[in-house]
This record gives sequence, structure tokens and C-alpha cells, in this order.
Amino acid sequence: MASVTVINHPLVQHKLTIMRDRHTSTAGFRQLLREIATLLCYEVTRDLEMTTTTIETPLAEMKAPTLAGKKLVFASVLRAGNGLLEGMLDLVPAARVAHVGLYRDPKTLQAVEYYFKAPDDLDERLTIVVDPMLATANSAIAAVDRLQERGAKDIRFVCLLAAPEGIDKFHGTHPDVPIFTASIDKYLNDKGYIVPGLGDAGDRMYGTK
Ligand code: PRP
Ligand code: URA
Repeated sequence: MASVTVINHPLVQHKLTIMRDRHTSTAGFRQLLREIATLLCYEVTRDLEMTTTTIETPLAEMKAPTLAGKKLVFASVLRAGNGLLEGMLDLVPAARVAHVGLYRDPKTLQAVEYYFKAPDDLDERLTIVVDPMLATANSAIAAVDRLQERGAKDIRFVCLLAAPEGIDKFHGTHPDVPIFTASIDKYLNDKGYIVPGLGDAGDRMYGTK
């Protein structure tokens, strides 16, 4: 039931290597995150349900494929989730957006919520949660708990890097939420950082410390 997909497309892996490099600039990091997001979006939406619609080309009428059902929702875990969100919206501009504001308490590593806003009809839509980092998984679990409380039933989680410890914990709580990631890294250090990782995703995106 618990599924993890590692997206090892050469373009994803190449861009990820540049993002990991401590010498990559804030602007470069943000741009690469946006670019990788489009590639991750391509994979996480690969099996979306299709239907057909009748259109007229300049030459003939035809039944053409189109996405079925209600528009999907991207749920961004603030702040760093917004980096992935931008690239996802480049590919699916009509998607709805939820924002889940969470920060990790540096001592306890527990997720603390400071903002939540989501479309009303989450129960009728596929919800794709986006956050570059799955470390202890406390933030991802809190985000999914909150979205489920608000009715979301069909949820997928997309990140850039996942720690093995975070994957185990996340699927211990949410075995029915598939994870899509560009890499499963080695381990979490004693401060809850992914190693080798890329550092603090939010700080690297926005040039804060
Ligand atoms: C980072 C990251 C995740 C969280 C992952 O956010 O974007 O949300 O840490 O860690 P976890 O799996 O141990 O919960 P952070 O709390 O640093 O907030 P920010 O995005 O605002 O910088
Ligand atoms: N959050 C980050 O931004 N980076 C980590 O390595 C762990 C949590």
C-alpha cells in the first residue's frame, strides 16, 4: 500500500546536484527548484484520469482527450513549498491552491501551524502536497492531517529530498499517501537535517538564515 517513487530522470538529477552545491546562489536555487517542480509534476500527474471532448480542428471534428473531473489542488507547505508550487502551476495553471503555514520548532522539531487556507471542496479533488524536504516528517504529517480534517481523501506528497527515517514515519501514519521524491538521502543528523541534503530549503530559497 505505502508507495515511494524516486524520480531519477537525468534532468531532475542534474538540476538537483546544482541545488545541493553550497556555492549555488539564491536566485539559481529558486530557479532550479521551479524547473525541477515541472518535472516532478509531470510524474505525479502521469496517471490522472482522462475523458474525451468533441472539438473541431481546422480540418475535421474529432473526439480529443482531456482531463476528467474537478481541477486538482496543490497544497504548499510554507515557506519552501512555494518554490515547488510555482513550477507546478507553470504546468497546471488552472489548479486550485491550498496553503499550509508550518514551521519546525528548532528544539523539539515539532511542526507548529501558523496559517491554513484551502478550497472548500477538497473531498472532490486530488490534493498534491508539495514541500521540498521530508526530514523527520513532522511537517508532512501535520499538513496531511490538517488537509484530511478539511475533507481531502485523495492525497499525494511530492518532495525533492526524503530521509529514510521520514519516509518510515510518514507511511507509519499515512500509508495511503504515495510519496514522490527526487532522492532518498542517507540519514537525518542530530539536528534533524537531511544528510547529505541541501541545507535549509527555505533559507536557501529566500536568502535568510
Ligand atoms: C522545512 C521544510 C519542511 C520541514 C521538513 O521547513 O520546508 O517543511 O522543514 O522538516 P520535517 O520533516 O522535520 O518536519 P521549515 O520548518 O524550516 O520552514 P520554512 O519552509 O519556513 O523555512
Ligand atoms: N528542513 C530543511 O529545510 N532541510 C533539512 O535538511 C531538514 C528540514
